[in-house]
Amino acid sequence: MSADRKLYEGKAKILYATDDPEVLVAHFKDDATAFNAAKRGTIVRKGEINCAISTHLFRLLEACGVPTHWLDTPESDRMKVKAVEIVPLEVVVRNVAAGSLCRQTGIALGTEIDPPLVEFFYKNDELGDPLLTRDRLRLLNVATSETIDRLRELALTVNRHLSEFFASCDITLVDFKLEFGIASDGRIVLADEISPDTCRLWDRRETDSERRVMDKDRFRQDLGQVEDAYERVLERVLERVETLSNAVT
Ligand code: TMP
Repeated sequence: MSADRKLYEGKAKILYATDDPEVLVAHFKDDATAFNAAKRGTIVRKGEINCAISTHLFRLLEACGVPTHWLDTPESDRMKVKAVEIVPLEVVVRNVAAGSLCRQTGIALGTEIDPPLVEFFYKNDELGDPLLTRDRLRLLNVATSETIDRLRELALTVNRHLSEFFASCDITLVDFKLEFGIASDGRIVLADEISPDTCRLWDRRETDSERRVMDKDRFRQDLGQVEDAYERVLERVLERVETLSNAVT
């Protein structure tokens, strides 16, 4: 199968066409950006690590009945995915206050959020991915209100499964960003990636507020040991996946 016609290059991934119009290949890059690409760098082995973590999490979610774009992971930094039309929204779920929520509302870092908060951001780099209100969502008409309701429901379902999974890895799922696509049969499926680039993950084995950070905040905030943190997340995910598969067989 040839997989070399580049369709799109994003900040963290390149999408290639294949000879099957229903299938694309996503190449996960080591490139890291933050603050709408104002800060740029490289995280060694990030492509492979994020591809592996995303693979395990998509498979876990599929097993829980959440439809995803994942088809196969034929190479360590390449994933075969269903061709979908991406909904131009970033759906963020928050269990613990951090990041833009703290900056914009004054809520203290680490405050538990129960029930979890679901937020919709407009996926538009030129506009800096602004937070949308329900009325702005309606005005922009990027998705029908039924689709918005479905995205919210799916995001909360993903949150339940991932929070439980990460807790079993001794990691708190603080918040995360999801993207969704519409498949050729009209179904809404989870797309993009789920990784330390797109989640905030705090190590429950560490109490220090900097040492506990296992995600891209280490890069955003120059905390150091970025590669190490990503490797540790993968290790814990692999350990847990192995335990779960041994329990099944
Ligand atoms: P925020 O607190 O900066 O709004 O980020 C919320 C979550 O979304 C956090 O887990 C990081 C993730 N995220 C992305 O995946 N891509 C982005 O461009 C931004 C700003 C956040």
